[in-house]
Amino acid sequence: MSSLSICVTRTTTPRLTDALRDTSPFGGVFTDHVLVCDYADGHWGTPAIVPYHDMPLVPGPLVAHYGQGIFEGLKAYPRANTGAVVFRPDANHRRMVQSCRRMAMPEVPADLFIDGIRALVAVDRQWMPAILGGTLYLRPVMFATGDALGVRPSDRYRFLIEMCPVGAYFSGAVDLVAEETYVRAFPGGTGAAKCAGNYAGSLVAQREAQARGFHNVLWLDGIERRWVEEAGLMNIAFVIGGTVVTPALNGTILPGVTRDSVLTLLRDMGVPVDERRISIDEVFEAHAAGTLEGAAGLGTAATVAPIGRLRHRDREISLPALAADSPIARAAQQLDAVRTGTAPDVHGWLCEV
Ligand code: COI
Repeated sequence: MSSLSICVTRTTTPRLTDALRDTSPFGGVFTDHVLVCDYADGHWGTPAIVPYHDMPLVPGPLVAHYGQGIFEGLKAYPRANTGAVVFRPDANHRRMVQSCRRMAMPEVPADLFIDGIRALVAVDRQWMPAILGGTLYLRPVMFATGDALGVRPSDRYRFLIEMCPVGAYFSGAVDLVAEETYVRAFPGGTGAAKCAGNYAGSLVAQREAQARGFHNVLWLDGIERRWVEEAGLMNIAFVIGGTVVTPALNGTILPGVTRDSVLTLLRDMGVPVDERRISIDEVFEAHAAGTLEGAAGLGTAATVAPIGRLRHRDREISLPALAADSPIARAAQQLDAVRTGTAPDVHGWLCEV
């Protein structure tokens, strides 16, 4: 099934149970196998799919010192019998290459990434949740394994793909508080890369937002603290007067695959889409004027997550729920239909396993 040579060693002690597969919290349980491929001496080794197990590392791999660590997130959807499709692995591969370049890491080859994903899904397909909306969440990750302290790009890396059976990420609308103390990204920084450090730096903000009764923060730009950038771990889009407005990709925002897919489907439906700067004041003014029809976070894990409460300093609004005929809800339904095979895949987004 793969043009890439992948050595597969199957577990002799499978852990799969219906409960683990269907009721585990998001990302709480990994499937029985993992794909591993190491990079050394200027080239990638032979990838192997092996039983999920602890792996030896030097005591202080370079990722722990200087942070060369990147990852991706994508999903596989069930098809009849034992089939499955992976959603846009080529897009995730392109983004991972961009992350590699930004973090001075060697590029992950397309066949290692895409054929590796297909092979791993085939091996652990029986972990696909048997619940409505259940998927396999794939997490490709790459990190520096070199053993040195000089500050320079590592000469050794590990690429691996692990996988979790998942259901919905959020159970309802997502409440956000605009972040005023911390920033996620700034011009020239790493905001557009999916690097571990971006997430590490966001955790304290998330924790403080949760202590205040919100799910996460609404990230504002790092210079003026005025322009909306991201919704916690997701991109964000607003519906204002019938137009979908979303922050333009300006180098500080992660180029989300779900964001791109939703915008493409909106344009297919003839909905006006405006990728531009949008200030936090404009959001509150649109709400006051009655033109803010709703907003949603867009991400692989959460897919399309309606935003509920939005707070900025001492003002707070409850956004209207996205009506079933609102543009974002219709795009979300269409995205779901493509992924589940009830609508044609006109953009060639599905990759058969
Ligand atoms: C995703 O949406 O796939 C992400 O990577 C965000 C998060 C789960 C870390």
